[in-house]
Amino acid sequence: MKKVSVIGAGNVGATTALLVAERELADVVLVDIVEGMSQGKGLDMAEAAPIDRFDAEVKGTSDYSEIGGSDIVVVTAGLPRKPGMSRLDLLQQNAAIVGEVSGNIARYAPASIVVMVTNPVDVMTYHAWKITGFPHNRVIGQAGVLDSARFATFVSFELGISVEDISAMVLGGHGDEMVPLPRYTTVSGIPITELLAAGTIDRLIERTRKGGSEIVGLLKTASAFYAPAAAATQMVETILKDKRRILPCSAYLKGEYGIDDVYIGVPVKLGINGVEEIVELKLTQSELTLLQNSAKVYKEGIASLQQ
Ligand SMILES: NC(=O)c1ccc[n+]([C@@H]2O[C@H](COP(=O)([O-])OP(=O)(O)OC[C@H]3O[C@@H](n4cnc5c(N)ncnc54)[C@H](O)[C@@H]3O)[C@@H](O)[C@H]2O)c1
Repeated sequence: MKKVSVIGAGNVGATTALLVAERELADVVLVDIVEGMSQGKGLDMAEAAPIDRFDAEVKGTSDYSEIGGSDIVVVTAGLPRKPGMSRLDLLQQNAAIVGEVSGNIARYAPASIVVMVTNPVDVMTYHAWKITGFPHNRVIGQAGVLDSARFATFVSFELGISVEDISAMVLGGHGDEMVPLPRYTTVSGIPITELLAAGTIDRLIERTRKGGSEIVGLLKTASAFYAPAAAATQMVETILKDKRRILPCSAYLKGEYGIDDVYIGVPVKLGINGVEEIVELKLTQSELTLLQNSAKVYKEGIASLQQ
């Protein structure tokens, strides 16, 4: 059995742990700094196994040595947003947490692949890459799978069409300047630009960009977690099963799309080695400008972290 550790047993972490175990993708170790929280949730999930009939172990702990031998470590430790906050407002506090977590990953699970979820995710992925010292293909951020799912949901609501036939593509950083790509968002292969008026698409893009804030505004004391956990689990499954799917993920760029030394959302081929290839789409000049502008925001985030 493969092994996946999830750091942070809060809303996203616990939901991810349960999804990974229920699908029997791996045995799961759930780690949290709050004593008893991961142990309690881990035991509770283990007690769901006889009902839901899954043969995966789930164990909660606050002892990092238990993550040893993990194939993947999903990092969800950190503060979520409150209403009115941007993801970048979390930067300094979450950098301290992610720094500590990354040091432990490097020490106890040196061969693992890191899937970063903590926000601001593009900057935190860069931070974890630096601190672990892992090759960049083994440190990947989750954002694009979620943002694309949100775009697909809104297209489905608008057209009254099954989500199963919708394939959406959202690039760029996980923030207000993300880059939804209507030309690459299709319903059974038909670009939505042939199915929806330009004004309608603009409205759906705006709702996608603000998708996280919409949920924070409704929940008030928490941020989204069901779809984020589903997105992280899809990345885990793709890696463990070496599916080599093309998914939008926050990946390290070295000149691709004219962007250098930053983690940002781009389509990647995801497999057993993590990011196996960065896929370079033929973007229009305006799409490319949006992506490059998005990258600039996160470069500034990285710079403020290094100060
Ligand atoms: N990338 C994305 O698409 C995406 C989506 C949703 C949430 N997020 C982010 O994921 C993070 C977690 O969100 P959540 O809703 O699960 O928050 P949460 O508050 O429910 O859970 C966070 C957990 O982290 C734990 N924690 C804090 N410091 C720790 C440490 N040093 N070591 C281990 N555990 C520690 C806390 O005790 C808590 O249980 C937030 O930063 C949030 O913004 C990202």
